Amino acid sequence: MEVTTRKLLVIATVILLLAAMAISVGLGAIADTRNERGPPPLDPKDVRIGREVYLQYCASCHGRRGEGEPNWREPNARGELPAPPHDAEGHTW
Ligand code: HEC
Repeated sequence: MEVTTRKLLVIATVILLLAAMAISVGLGAIADTRNERGPPPLDPKDVRIGREVYLQYCASCHGRRGEGEPNWREPNARGELPAPPHDAEGHTW
């Protein structure tokens, strides 16, 4: 009788510990998603610098407005693909 009670206590303790672990893991997962704040807000200064960098290094091929080269889906005379637009169509994002 005493042994059975002790066994029951051990089993109950194990179940309680497993439940506590499951709850803490679950709460941790919730806390993780709450901490995700997404990208930081855009600083207009960074956007201005980015525009300058883009115009200097990228616009010659991808276009001043990111529109890509004409017929960008077809290989050119050298068999190379022209620069695609920077939008979902050109699968940049
Ligand atoms: C000399 C021309 C040229 C310049 C300058 C250039 N690119 Fe490109 N870019 C290309 C070409 C051509 C491709 C397509 C390559 C291919 O599909 O094989 C490409 C592809 C890309 C892609 C991949 C689009 C996709 O998802 O398929 C991105 C992103 C990109 N360029 C960004 C940039 C950025 C940012 C700059 C400036 C820092 C830049 N490129 C400068 C010619 C250029």
